[in-house]
Amino acid sequence: MKIVVTGGLGFIGSHTTVELQKKGFEVVIIDDLSNSTEKVLDGIVAITGKRPEFEKIDLKEKSKVEDFFKRHQDIAGVIHFAASKAVGESVEKPLLYYENNIGTLVYLLKELSKKQRASFIFSSSCTVYGQADKMPITEDAPVKAAESPYGNTKQIGEEIIQETCKVTPAINAIALRYFNPMGAHPSAEIGELPIGVPQNLVPFVTQTGAGIREQISVFGGDYPTEDGTCIRDYIHVVDLAKAHVVALERLLDGKNEENYEVFNVGTGKGSSVLEVIQSFERVSGKKLNYKIVGRRPGDIMTAYADTTKANEVLGWKAESSLDEAMKSAWLWEQRVRKESV
Ligand code: WQD
Repeated sequence: MKIVVTGGLGFIGSHTTVELQKKGFEVVIIDDLSNSTEKVLDGIVAITGKRPEFEKIDLKEKSKVEDFFKRHQDIAGVIHFAASKAVGESVEKPLLYYENNIGTLVYLLKELSKKQRASFIFSSSCTVYGQADKMPITEDAPVKAAESPYGNTKQIGEEIIQETCKVTPAINAIALRYFNPMGAHPSAEIGELPIGVPQNLVPFVTQTGAGIREQISVFGGDYPTEDGTCIRDYIHVVDLAKAHVVALERLLDGKNEENYEVFNVGTGKGSSVLEVIQSFERVSGKKLNYKIVGRRPGDIMTAYADTTKANEVLGWKAESSLDEAMKSAWLWEQRVRKESV
């Protein structure tokens, strides 16, 4: 069966492509290479031995999207990762985010609406919950006013899909609300591509460990949490990738109860920033140079998932511990450093 993975050369997209190929799916990757490189294809081949078809397409170009679907009539499903995802950048460039994250989604759904039956997996985020009132966070926790245009595009994206599915029974969709993806494939053939100064915690930790960064700033040590630092649910990217395959198979096998469903994808465990740093020190045997500084504007204090629905309804559960995920992140960092010399 042919599955399109948009943003398939990105961090989560490449890991999901590997898991799809392992399950025997034929994968066609669409990527505009704005935040990835074709070299990622070599990493995928090194792991699975199969080179996915790749087309460099900017999904903002409607005619290109129409042409692609005309040439690929036998598409059974789409897993849609392609989007801009830097929270800070979205505040500075809101229109870029609305055009790239919403416009492209509309074009994809218009193409799927023409088909007899289509399965669609949407990359959403726990960002839609904002600072949830109750931990762990369940899927029926209220969606709060977004703190950034990035988060808003995820909320709007979910609404667009839900409303489309209401009037288009041919489309069966699942939105996966990711918590905090981290780590890399255990082979260290693919991972999070380090482009510029990392915004996210884990790549900053491993780059500090590798000596690329002098010191890591811990944004806030005075939160009312156990050790004063923020808590998140850090999930191994391979576990996250596997959740996409399970969700897709649910739709392809017609097991979905509604034609629009939502699942949290996390480990169900919260870890503080200091616990993440301690995890790195355990797995690497290196002391990490960090400094506790002021809070980062826009940060919420705590977010970790109630994974009951994914475990019981989807039949998926995260398997890797924080240390195992951190170990994979560190191996990847060392591999990238070796290659960059
Ligand atoms: C985690 C914690 C920081 C860097 C965002 C998006 C989310 C998803 C993942 C795209 C926070 C602290 C961080 C640093 C630090 N994005 N931190 N020093 O903000 O939870 O989630 O990225 O899919 O949608 O909202 O992730 O990794 O940026 O931060 O102390 O140098 O680490 O304050 O508490 P976040 P993050």
